[in-house]
Amino acid sequence: MGDNNQESVNYELLDSSVKTVIDKAQAIREKAYCPYSKFAVGAALLCEDGTIVDGCNVENISYGLTICAERAAICKAISQEQKSFKCIAICAEMEDYFVSPCGACRQVLAEFNTGMEVYLCKPNNDIVKTSVTKLLPLSFTPNWVSFST
Ligand code: THU
Repeated sequence: MGDNNQESVNYELLDSSVKTVIDKAQAIREKAYCPYSKFAVGAALLCEDGTIVDGCNVENISYGLTICAERAAICKAISQEQKSFKCIAICAEMEDYFVSPCGACRQVLAEFNTGMEVYLCKPNNDIVKTSVTKLLPLSFTPNWVSFST
């Protein structure tokens, strides 16, 4: 698979830090709280200093309050004083296709780094690589606005 927006990558050929991020995203998926959809998702962020922060989806009986794995990871990272992210790995249970972040999560990722690499992973570690800017072109980011504080 490959077009301007995504390319297949071989897990074995990735940097060890990226492999670890993918491994963590695969593992945290097991912790997902998804009694309604039964669709478990794991995400992990590689921070600039090498720290890895993971997250899983957390659903709610009031369905709209569900928090996706990507946003769970971002919230956890911010609370750990991490806000520079090199890449994110996202793993779902789907064997047949790559699960890609929802629109809300794309916007939240763009807040921190439109250049962030995004690895979409199947359970068997088939992987495609894309980026936040490819997923959300012409994004509205803090660069556009100057807030006086
Ligand atoms: N979900 C994520 O956590 N990340 C995605 O990229 C796609 C969707 C979650 C939200 C919900 O708990 C379940 O998957 C079904 O949509």
